[in-house]
Amino acid sequence: MRIRAAVLEEFGQPLVVQDVDLGHPKAGEVLVKVHACGVCHTDLYTASGADPSGYTPCVLGHEGAGVVTEVGAGVTLVRPGDHVITLFSPECGECIHCRSGKTNICLAIREQQGQGYLPDGTPRLSRHGEPMRHFMGTSTFAEYTVMPEIALAKIDPAASLETVCMLACGATTGLAAALWKTEVEAGSTCAVFGCGMVGLGAVLGCAMQGAERVIAVDLSETRLELARGAGATDTIVADQDPVDRILEMTDGFGADYTFEATGLVKVMGQAVEAARMGWGTCTVLGVAGKGEALEIIPRFLITGRKVQGGSFGGARGRTHVPQLVDLYLQGKLDLDPFVSHRLTLDQVNEGFELMEAQDGIRSVIVFDAT
Ligand SMILES: NC(=O)c1ccc[n+]([C@@H]2O[C@H](COP(=O)([O-])OP(=O)(O)OC[C@H]3O[C@@H](n4cnc5c(N)ncnc54)[C@H](O)[C@@H]3O)[C@@H](O)[C@H]2O)c1
Ligand SMILES: [Zn+2]
Ligand SMILES: [Zn+2]
Repeated sequence: MRIRAAVLEEFGQPLVVQDVDLGHPKAGEVLVKVHACGVCHTDLYTASGADPSGYTPCVLGHEGAGVVTEVGAGVTLVRPGDHVITLFSPECGECIHCRSGKTNICLAIREQQGQGYLPDGTPRLSRHGEPMRHFMGTSTFAEYTVMPEIALAKIDPAASLETVCMLACGATTGLAAALWKTEVEAGSTCAVFGCGMVGLGAVLGCAMQGAERVIAVDLSETRLELARGAGATDTIVADQDPVDRILEMTDGFGADYTFEATGLVKVMGQAVEAARMGWGTCTVLGVAGKGEALEIIPRFLITGRKVQGGSFGGARGRTHVPQLVDLYLQGKLDLDPFVSHRLTLDQVNEGFELMEAQDGIRSVIVFDAT
């Protein structure tokens, strides 16, 4: 079938919206009509050429939500009509990692996905008969996408796809880090560095877990205001030496749980230092620049702090994302304030500009409602 899609033709250049061809789903694959897709930093990171594993041409986009329209042979996990959120991090449930229950890093299709192919090693995307690669196993800056069934989270159809598409990446990363990766305890003190979509997700998660104090740190007053709306009890403007401020607020000890959501190694270091001696856990979520290293003074570890990280916040997509959608529908997870702009696919490059200007939290591309 012929579809409209936003193609990365050349690094550092705007995406080009055009017609491309998409094949039918093969065994274990599913055709999804994409209804909405958030614009995330990872799309821009790859488009800019900074991502060493990037390639062109490809169809970008990975914060998708849509409806299943066709399934390939042997598909059992979803049926036509199901509402789904696309997962760049699949969950096969059968590989040694999935069975361990200790990690969300599923091994089933890793290699092929990283190279831009579906699990059988071929793409479904093409143009003028030439194969074209997929991106993050999702390629959701497109009217339709073909994905493996293990990379789709089936969700309650009552949820607005325009909003819950944010759970395909940014929001879930922060939420899952607080809810499942760290299991923040009621009554604890948390500090979140960076209040973009990922950090705000962590603030929401800490508040939902019943943290007594949630200290939000950011350079932007606007974002700190959003953090207060998401449940932050205290805010710190980042240029005020946040580690000292957090130590002052906690009788010199530091926070029980800290989360980093900036991608800056300097801030990752602050998040380690602001974690409490004895048992403080620092969870690193940001993606640092190529070749950058996080330096930690070993004394911080010897004195009992733990440092961990998590792709997608450690979320097991098919298990956890539907639970977050249910929390949203129950009114316990307010994601609505984070949809800042609704764009058409043709405006995708505006989404990048808005992100670079830090205008709003998430721009969401909304496709034709038909
Ligand atoms: N772990 C994952 O799977 C995963 C998933 C999505 C995004 N990410 C990464 O998470 C990070 C955050 O993503 P986002 O979409 O929320 O980005 P964002 O740019 O919207 O948010 C980053 C925030 O950090 C703030 N900031 C900048 N300098 C700061 C400082 N010195 N101290 C405190 N705050 C500071 C900015 O003002 C901004 O509000 C990025 O590095 C992104 O690549 C990781
Ligand atoms: Zn993302
Ligand atoms: Zn697996």
